[in-house]
Amino acid sequence: MSQFSHTPVLFQESIESLKLAKGSVIVDCTLGLGGHSKEILKQIGKTGKLIAIDQDEDNLQNARKNLSEWEEQIVYAHDNFGNLRQIFKKHKIEKADGIFFDLGISSVHLDQAEKGFSIRHSGPLDMRMDRRSSLTAADVVNTYAEDALNRIFWEYGEEKFARKITNKIIEHRKVKKFERTDELVDLIESVKPKVRWGGGHPAVLVFQALRIEVNRELEVLKKGLEDAINLLAKGGRIVVISYHSLEDRIVKKLFKKYFSNCHCPSDQPICNCGWKAQLKKIGKLITPSQSEIKDNPRSRSAKMRVSEKII
Ligand SMILES: C[S@@+](CC[C@H](N)C(=O)[O-])C[C@H]1O[C@@H](n2cnc3c(N)ncnc32)[C@H](O)[C@@H]1O
Repeated sequence: MSQFSHTPVLFQESIESLKLAKGSVIVDCTLGLGGHSKEILKQIGKTGKLIAIDQDEDNLQNARKNLSEWEEQIVYAHDNFGNLRQIFKKHKIEKADGIFFDLGISSVHLDQAEKGFSIRHSGPLDMRMDRRSSLTAADVVNTYAEDALNRIFWEYGEEKFARKITNKIIEHRKVKKFERTDELVDLIESVKPKVRWGGGHPAVLVFQALRIEVNRELEVLKKGLEDAINLLAKGGRIVVISYHSLEDRIVKKLFKKYFSNCHCPSDQPICNCGWKAQLKKIGKLITPSQSEIKDNPRSRSAKMRVSEKII
């Protein structure tokens, strides 16, 4: 066991939705510490195979320790799920029987101040899940033009005080560049009126926005999901847990595209697009129970969608 922990979200619900069988080939696109993968491995048995992907090398290595019992059945990929096609090609996998996404960061990211994701523990303003990539949150805050910063806070954080926060950052960085998370947290606290803080921390939305920009989260989600749908075998399930509305919107929209039998413009009387539905919807949107939220408050925003490949 590694020293870090992460409580898997919607555990039973996601495992059941994957419809696991002995000998299945399953892809965990967001391995984390391997909480879901451990159960997947138990259920697919000795003849099954798991492709375990994570762009954070520390998490991947810690998961490897947690899953050492199944070492021979696992193909590890320190990679981005945006490269799913290349990962399949490299490991000579044609189709998978199940593909799982548990998006975003893990508790480990929030608990390790040096990763720069935490609002409560001071650390370098970093936020890269993959340390091989070059752009950090400090680069974004210190070098992006005013309009670009404002757009990121507004679009990726849905932050109502985006303009005010941006103006203050621009003023501040003329005198001193941002290096640490708490410098940014202090600035946001000084800009947002206390009455508008509500239940959450006032810096949550800006931190979310920066994380999305640094890790290109929405762009890779669109690509990874679309490739996953195409790499799924007939009858295979795709299960996605998302944690904020921007992610969930992408999942919902993309699934809808593949549920449809026609992509012709709505005013065209006769269909000639030749498109065939590739997915069917399985069940309704699933969210954590009150008791899960009570035991693991970090699960509170989770939303799970499930689909099955039909051709
Ligand atoms: C919510 S955690 C997964 C937790 C895991 N299900 C468990 O129970 O331990 C998400 C993980 O996905 C990884 N991740 C996020 N986006 C990724 C991407 N685009 N490609 C590969 N890994 C990604 C993060 O580094 C993190 O370790």
